[in-house]
Amino acid sequence: MTDNFRLYSQYYDLLYQDKNYILETNYVSRLIETYRPKSKTILELGAGTGKHAFLLANKGYTVLGVERSAEMVAIANQTTNENVSFDVADIIEFNLNQTFDVATSLFHVISYLTDNESLIQTFKNVYQHLNKDGIFIFDVWYSPAVYHQVPEKRTKILKNHNIEVIRKANPVIYSEKNVVEVNYEITIINVNDKSASTITEKHPMRHFSSPEIELLAYTTGFKLLGTEEFLTGLAPSTDTWGVCYILKKI
Ligand SMILES: C[S@@+](CC[C@H](N)C(=O)[O-])C[C@H]1O[C@@H](n2cnc3c(N)ncnc32)[C@H](O)[C@@H]1O
Repeated sequence: MTDNFRLYSQYYDLLYQDKNYILETNYVSRLIETYRPKSKTILELGAGTGKHAFLLANKGYTVLGVERSAEMVAIANQTTNENVSFDVADIIEFNLNQTFDVATSLFHVISYLTDNESLIQTFKNVYQHLNKDGIFIFDVWYSPAVYHQVPEKRTKILKNHNIEVIRKANPVIYSEKNVVEVNYEITIINVNDKSASTITEKHPMRHFSSPEIELLAYTTGFKLLGTEEFLTGLAPSTDTWGVCYILKKI
């Protein structure tokens, strides 16, 4: 099992402070209203630091988040809500003995599953954990956009009262595997005493075409209900990095 997010977790919320979780949660709850109204329970795969989970609970859902990184879950557990809980587990092989109306997996979690076996196992697992007509909503990297835009080296700098984080992302493209390995070098500077340390992490990300997702869905007992750009709902194009798929258990 890869160890990514173990160290990364400490800076995760700072790095993504500009990510609009409220807007995203409104979008996801609109999809739930459209595709499975009256849903009450949500299984969140790769729940991270729990941002979507708590916002979904504020909308009246009961949410259970499954997350592999104990460090991310520890951060999530700093907030409490009686309708939200987290389990440290791998989405490829967990068993909760419980079923849900909806499964979500947000911010490219499924792209972290780079081999077919893990993907098939995960989708079968989601199937087992869904109620009748349950839906599975997830967003992934979209192959047409990856080929068109080609990932490049990028640097992101974020700062709060205590630390400055400089994250350099160096992507290595494995075209024959539909995988981009993003090598992160993260430097953390203490703004008070200027001491600094650097960590590195590899995040291998798989990208998908729609026929690939349709085949994966079909072979694991799902029907594809919707394919759209995450957040906007527009038809995916070569400019669409994150595509959202909505599947239904059949
Ligand atoms: C980009 S983060 C997204 C977190 C959260 N969904 C969000 O939107 O902020 C990806 C998350 O997926 C988790 N993850 C990746 N592979 C996983 C697996 N096989 N099982 C459980 N969690 C996994 C990582 O630990 C990380 O927290």
